Amino acid sequence: MRIRTLLLFVTCGAICAAADVSGNWVAEQPRNDGTVQRTYFDLKQNGSQITGEIRTIEQRYEITSSTGEGTSFTVTGTSRGGNTPRQATYTLTLQGDELQVTGQPRRNRPPIQLVAHRTSPGGGAWPAYLEPPALHDVPYNGLAKIPPMGWNSWNKFAGTVDDAAVRGAADAIASNGMKEAGYVYINIDDTWQGERDAQGVIHANRKFPDMKALADYVHSKGLKIGIYSSPGPATCADYPGSYGHEEQDAKTYAEWDMDYLKYDWCSAGNIYKDSAMQAVYQKMGDALRASGRPIVFSLCQYGRADVWRWGPAVSGNLWRTTGDIKDSWDSMTKIGFDQDPLAPYAAPGHWNDPDMLEVGNGGMTTEEYRTHFSLWSMLAAPLLAGNDLQHMSPEILSILTNKDVIAIDQDPEGKQGTRLSKNGDSEIWTKDLSGGAKAVAFFNRAETPATITLNWADLKMSSEPKRVDDLWAHKPVDLTGAGYTAQVPPHGVVMLRVQ
Ligand code: GLA
Repeated sequence: MRIRTLLLFVTCGAICAAADVSGNWVAEQPRNDGTVQRTYFDLKQNGSQITGEIRTIEQRYEITSSTGEGTSFTVTGTSRGGNTPRQATYTLTLQGDELQVTGQPRRNRPPIQLVAHRTSPGGGAWPAYLEPPALHDVPYNGLAKIPPMGWNSWNKFAGTVDDAAVRGAADAIASNGMKEAGYVYINIDDTWQGERDAQGVIHANRKFPDMKALADYVHSKGLKIGIYSSPGPATCADYPGSYGHEEQDAKTYAEWDMDYLKYDWCSAGNIYKDSAMQAVYQKMGDALRASGRPIVFSLCQYGRADVWRWGPAVSGNLWRTTGDIKDSWDSMTKIGFDQDPLAPYAAPGHWNDPDMLEVGNGGMTTEEYRTHFSLWSMLAAPLLAGNDLQHMSPEILSILTNKDVIAIDQDPEGKQGTRLSKNGDSEIWTKDLSGGAKAVAFFNRAETPATITLNWADLKMSSEPKRVDDLWAHKPVDLTGAGYTAQVPPHGVVMLRVQ
């Protein structure tokens, strides 16, 4: 009798436990840099209803509705914080000791398929809310008096960037003429991060065995080095951000001898509304200042919250004005030709950043890349090459090292160019230069050749031009007429310097 009861109990115990998804679960996805992405499921099953929480490093969803029964459920989670609540739907199926999960936790990302295992409570706890500080002006750091030039890993290497790729970029710039042309910063973008240690100090993952040694190497080439983080708990690629660790991280970057920080909003948007951006960026502005090392501060928050109005107040040296660029004519022109209204906000030390260059990444023609480089130079934009510098054609290198065009970008006056005229797909832009000179760019956005004419009088300069140089043809233009007529190839550019 006793044995029978025990047997019944054991059988029921196994079945009852197997039929209930209640408990704490974790799904671990190892990445090939030695880091692990974790998703936590804290679930409570009450009959056919599931409640609880789903957490990743970047987001916390409270389960707000569920359907299903037995061992298979579809749950919808709602995130709190940020501008607007976000929702994600997961299906959870209990199979033996495992929880099979499918879902799409983030918009514009592929669906995920995970296997979760039981774990102890409290894993991956979501960080406590930190009240944004009161606003004050962080003093200008004295850097980036001309738009920063260099290279950034993201556009070409994205998650595959490693120590070798960064050294390779530094080697290339130091030896192919780019350094002489003005390229200085070798910037590591997202996916360098490993784990924080018990003291909260961030360490690089195994793609970057020794950050200080890497910085020393880059410095030994006469170049500078940059790093990347986020004010949120996670970066856009779900690596640890600096939330609650701002001072500590700034100190670490200074100890590594970093010269530049790109600080990317990402998951901060799951905690704060856009109205808190200035205060949140100010925290890192203060932290960089407290680190004692001169570090260029690059704000990356996609041009939200009118960043050009407050970027200087957080000691930002540049601020992204748009979403991410893609290596296509449409993306590049949509971004570049929309920058006209922001011209008043560019000044030495403080630049509008229409995103990094795609020149040489393969999605545009050589002519289109020339237009891209010219337009960015007219905009006094940061010139951060985003291609594989070790494997580029001489044509691409000659675009990136056109010193006459670069001089327009780097003009010490720091004026951003503006649109002078637009006639269908033909546009003329001008940019004031030091010494009373002007740069003029004739852009043809059409797929057929265009004839574009400018009367010198339209430039409203104090006198007739004395010398005009074509900056791509590398020769002076004929000054006999009242203006200049350029034949501009499809998607092409003619760029002049008028003295
Ligand atoms: C955002 C930024 C990009 C890049 C990625 C990295 O999308 O805008 O420039 O830094 O994050 O994850």
